[in-house]
Amino acid sequence: MAYGLLKGKRGIISGALDENSIAWKIALKAKEEGATFTLTNAPIAMRMGAINDLAKACDAQIIPADATSVEDIEKLFSQSTEILGGKIDFVLHSIGMSLNVRKSKAYGDLNYEWMQKGLDISAISLHKFLQVAEKQDALSEWASVVALSYIAAQRTYSFYGDMAEAKAMLESIARSYGYRYGKAKNVRVNTISQSPTKTKAGSGIDGFDAFYDFAEKMSPLGNATAEDCANYAITLFSDLTRYVTMQNLYHDGGYSSTGISEELVQMIQQQQQ
Ligand SMILES: NC(=O)c1ccc[n+]([C@@H]2O[C@H](COP(=O)([O-])OP(=O)(O)OC[C@H]3O[C@@H](n4cnc5c(N)ncnc54)[C@H](O)[C@@H]3O)[C@@H](O)[C@H]2O)c1
Repeated sequence: MAYGLLKGKRGIISGALDENSIAWKIALKAKEEGATFTLTNAPIAMRMGAINDLAKACDAQIIPADATSVEDIEKLFSQSTEILGGKIDFVLHSIGMSLNVRKSKAYGDLNYEWMQKGLDISAISLHKFLQVAEKQDALSEWASVVALSYIAAQRTYSFYGDMAEAKAMLESIARSYGYRYGKAKNVRVNTISQSPTKTKAGSGIDGFDAFYDFAEKMSPLGNATAEDCANYAITLFSDLTRYVTMQNLYHDGGYSSTGISEELVQMIQQQQQ
């Protein structure tokens, strides 16, 4: 059911790679709620071609941009305001990648060039988006910027490697830029800390399936799906949440507040018998 929450709003949506991507679901929802937007992804991701189907379904233009390139991001914002016919009301940052995680490098044996690349792609890119937007004055008053994070920013997860540092930095940038942009133009910046979700980025992590099941059993509501994450993101883009900013918002079925669940206690008891 659509509510017209984004009627008349213009946006930029990054990170839709295939139909499992969280950004993909957010784009479909944003369209349903009345928004117009551009889609963007790394030029290399375009080769997969799936984003063209999404663009068709959303009546959206695609602007390729490597999230580490300020030049690409400048084009992304200037072309988006031109195509959409005005300043941008919402931006989705749904970008993450660690070469160390992807190549199963142990935390005690990190490749530091890869680490820097990963931080640039997964965290500093949010700063680049915001700095370019501010310099171009591309965002409207009360615009909303949302980036996707994970609870490994607060707690350690053995399989998450240096993505933990990237998420901690991402959340910090959301606070710091949220302050600055809030003062300047009432622009809001938040992160959504999402449950494990079966996507390309998620499944690139060793032991992901086991962890997915663990989180499912730990969360009183179960893992939040990508569709539900999309619903939540839409509320943050809408005018119904105008005073929410500089927050890391857990969207995890209660996982982050649970010590241990009955299901896990029972599993351990069964093993002990
Ligand atoms: N899947 C999960 O379990 C989970 C949980 C919490 C948070 N997240 C976060 O959600 C976000 C989206 O991930 P997803 O799970 O939908 O997976 P995904 O693989 O579908 O999306 C990741 C996107 O990042 C893009 N990307 C990578 N390098 C880029 C670059 N240099 N420039 C521009 N784009 C680039 C990829 O092309 C891809 O579209 C990520 O920030 C991820 O860390 C995912």
